[in-house]
Amino acid sequence: MLRIGVLGSGRGSNFAAIMRALSDGVIPNAQVCVVVSNNSSAGILELARSHGLPAVHLSHKQFADEDQFVQALLALLTTHRVNLVVLAGYMKRLHPAVIDAFRNRIVNIHPALLPKFGGPGMYGHHVHEAVIASGERISGATVHLVDEEYDHGKILLQQTITLSGEETPASLAEKVLRIEHQLYPEALRQIAEGHISLDTP
Ligand code: GRF
Repeated sequence: MLRIGVLGSGRGSNFAAIMRALSDGVIPNAQVCVVVSNNSSAGILELARSHGLPAVHLSHKQFADEDQFVQALLALLTTHRVNLVVLAGYMKRLHPAVIDAFRNRIVNIHPALLPKFGGPGMYGHHVHEAVIASGERISGATVHLVDEEYDHGKILLQQTITLSGEETPASLAEKVLRIEHQLYPEALRQIAEGHISLDTP
């Protein structure tokens, strides 16, 4: 059984897509156990509450130092017996101790075709601006494992889209987000069914 802990900072549209897939029975043997956000007013927390899920605001600002924050986050994930951490628009860098405690058990979705257009500073509209500026004709989304380097862990699943001649960062963002909503649930389905292995290099 996948016991998923979701971490997000924003509106939570990927989380919503995952919840839809879970309630439609598309992802077998899996449930979301807790949703955590560093942002108290994040839409993702509202959404989690509307599903009756534990929705926790947890920020390093609530603690004397980062170590205490990390311990609180790990304790929360442990209390809910989380065995897969799903980053869904989480804008904070995860502390190495969290990555280590959940080695190969943290996944993320990135709005481009990694390994291109990833790394520090490559988030939100920056990604789509860079894709368009590069003259690429295709972009897409990537679900990958999280390691200590930004957007660097093993690539688990990708989906591509073709750019139109008059693509703007905004239109591209919309197109990519639409495929993210298919790709993330599909990746979780394949993980739940054992078709994607998180442990092989
Ligand atoms: C998505 O574009 C995702 O690729 C990135 O953060 C955004 C989250 O959007 N990691 P949402 O909160 O799921 O709507």
